[in-house]
Amino acid sequence: MSGPEAVMEAQDLRRYYELSRGWLAPKATVKALDGVSFTLAPHRTLAVVGESGCGKSTLARQLTLIEPPSSGALRLNGRDYATASEAERRRARRQVQIIFQNPYGSLNPRKKIGAILAEPLAINTDLGSVEREARVREVMAKVGLRPEHYMRYPHMFSGGQRQRVAIARALMLKPRVVVADEPVSALDVSIQAQVLNLLMDLQDELGMAYVFISHDLAVVRHIADDVLVMYLGRPVEQGASAEVFARPLHPYTRALLAAAPSLDPDRRAGRSVLRGELPSPLNPPAGCAFHTRCPHADGECAARRPEPRSYGGREVACHHVERIG
Ligand SMILES: Nc1ncnc2c1ncn2[C@@H]1O[C@H](COP(=O)(O)OP(=O)(O)OP(=O)(O)O)[C@@H](O)[C@H]1O
Ligand SMILES: [Mg+2]
Repeated sequence: MSGPEAVMEAQDLRRYYELSRGWLAPKATVKALDGVSFTLAPHRTLAVVGESGCGKSTLARQLTLIEPPSSGALRLNGRDYATASEAERRRARRQVQIIFQNPYGSLNPRKKIGAILAEPLAINTDLGSVEREARVREVMAKVGLRPEHYMRYPHMFSGGQRQRVAIARALMLKPRVVVADEPVSALDVSIQAQVLNLLMDLQDELGMAYVFISHDLAVVRHIADDVLVMYLGRPVEQGASAEVFARPLHPYTRALLAAAPSLDPDRRAGRSVLRGELPSPLNPPAGCAFHTRCPHADGECAARRPEPRSYGGREVACHHVERIG
């Protein structure tokens, strides 16, 4: 999938952080995001999964221009917006909205919901106050908030309702892409399903593309069209969700799936489970970064880093995928 139907494209996106370790000590580099590419069409959901620290939120910050990437291209409707003029970046920011795990931190406690939701309209559009209120009320209804919520403050809401407010705020400017960084991880399991269903209904109706970040594979399975599995900043397996879940190829994907709670005990049997500690991103293992934890690793894995290549209908970065798959 690429070409005109793509709404967002990332190409070899990287973000490195220089860390100062005190004076005289040499600077260290964290390769938080080290070569991620994908193509995303309207109505589609790309799930990004991996353990804590693998670079998921760093990716979210690059896609939404909260931070500039160190290198790589980032296209919206075919135009690179990472390196575009300030005016073009501002336009792109309106079209790529983000939802965070904990919306409470980003909702001003002194403002009523109506005012919070009207803010993006006041900043980015010419709408008058009457039209702004009408739009706010329209979007509130879409996300399942009631009219009387308009005059309430964020602390008067439950976690699930607050996440509906965050979703409404993300939708105010009719974005083409919504990046959701662990949007349901802080919610009770019963509420998670409601919010996920809401996100899926909104996508059906409005056609946005989603980049859905989660460490929870059970959640992702339900909602993703494509999956990108990351390990220490690098993609290890990427492809159609149905195939990745039915027949994971990279040993890391297999381990993640085996470690995830499953309702079906047969699926768990015989699968490897993640062993060992996640290596420090400041000092990742040479060769394949996963080789220190991989049951299939050999000398080649320790010596040479596998680049992603096509196998079994997807991209896999493993020297031994033919043998394992
Ligand atoms: N501003 C920064 N300066 C230095 N290092 C950073 C910065 N932001 C992130 N990192 C490092 O980059 C790596 C990736 O972090 P990131 O927050 O993207 O991971 P994550 O996958 O979102 O993790 P989690 O599941 O815990 O949210 C980590 O090693 C982190 O310490
Ligand atoms: Mg994160």
